[in-house]
Amino acid sequence: MFKTSLAVALATLLCSAQALAEPILIKFSHVVAEDTPKGKGALMFKRLAEERLAGKVQVEVYPDSTLFGDADELQALRDNKVQLLAPSLSKFEQYTTQLQVFDLPFLFDDLEAVKRFQKREKSRELLRSMASHGIYGLAYWNNGMKQLSATRALHTPADAAGLAFRIQPSEILEQQFARVGASSLRLPFAETRAALQAGRVQGAENTWSNLASQQLGALQPYVTETDHGVLSYMLVSNSGFWTSIPYQIRVQLEAIIDEVTLAVNSEAEALNARDRQRLTAAGSQLVSLSGEQRAAWRAAMQPLWQEYEGRIGSDVLRAAQTVNR
Ligand code: LMR
Repeated sequence: MFKTSLAVALATLLCSAQALAEPILIKFSHVVAEDTPKGKGALMFKRLAEERLAGKVQVEVYPDSTLFGDADELQALRDNKVQLLAPSLSKFEQYTTQLQVFDLPFLFDDLEAVKRFQKREKSRELLRSMASHGIYGLAYWNNGMKQLSATRALHTPADAAGLAFRIQPSEILEQQFARVGASSLRLPFAETRAALQAGRVQGAENTWSNLASQQLGALQPYVTETDHGVLSYMLVSNSGFWTSIPYQIRVQLEAIIDEVTLAVNSEAEALNARDRQRLTAAGSQLVSLSGEQRAAWRAAMQPLWQEYEGRIGSDVLRAAQTVNR
């Protein structure tokens, strides 16, 4: 009897020791190509984590919606089926309305202004805005400013009237196109190309890097350089999972995330500039706006700032409005 209990105790001890030795597995899923700001960031995180925490942490990266896509990734994160995601800030609408500030058209003059805002306290607070849903914000990663692509050249807001645009799941983006007489269709990123090909939509808005990496040039012969909005991400984890990582390991992982964030955010602009060239080389025609034309787009869309101030919060909106120079 004594011998049996001893054997059971020993076996249990052995099992838990083995379990302790197992590396922590972090699955990082995203929806874009690897040669983009987010794709590169995910790979850099894997490399640094596995180098510096060898044997303690293992990272699996799934690009291009190969594990989860826009429609199911956040639920998968909440169910801890995946441990890291970096969805666009436009994709959190059902969990917080404060992040909608990033969708307001023409609010940020450029990516530098976005970066300044992301360093402000108000913006840092938004990393915790989805805590009650079990979503733990770790960092902001930027892609770049969005451009308007379409099957015809868009010079003035009237040129967009009657076209249907693919959008991310965001009410503000829906309203943005409604304000210029266009319709919109919420579609997962992975379905955008097929929808353009089938003619279900005739336009889209995205960064140079996403337009080029999805080879949208052939389907979208015109790209208007509007820089009208920003595409930025929040690197998020499952709160329960993240806070259960042993403290020493978590501190190192968070230091790695800081390093990767710095790299992603300082290289994003160069990657987008490169892809702007790629897109034109592949045949897309760029449409530049005169000051007057840009002002017309802005005037058409800007009323949304006031319309959404209540949902976003005046404090958040005001903090964002002070970052342009
Ligand atoms: C989109 O859906 O257009 C983007 O959010 C994709 C991405 O993650 O860059």
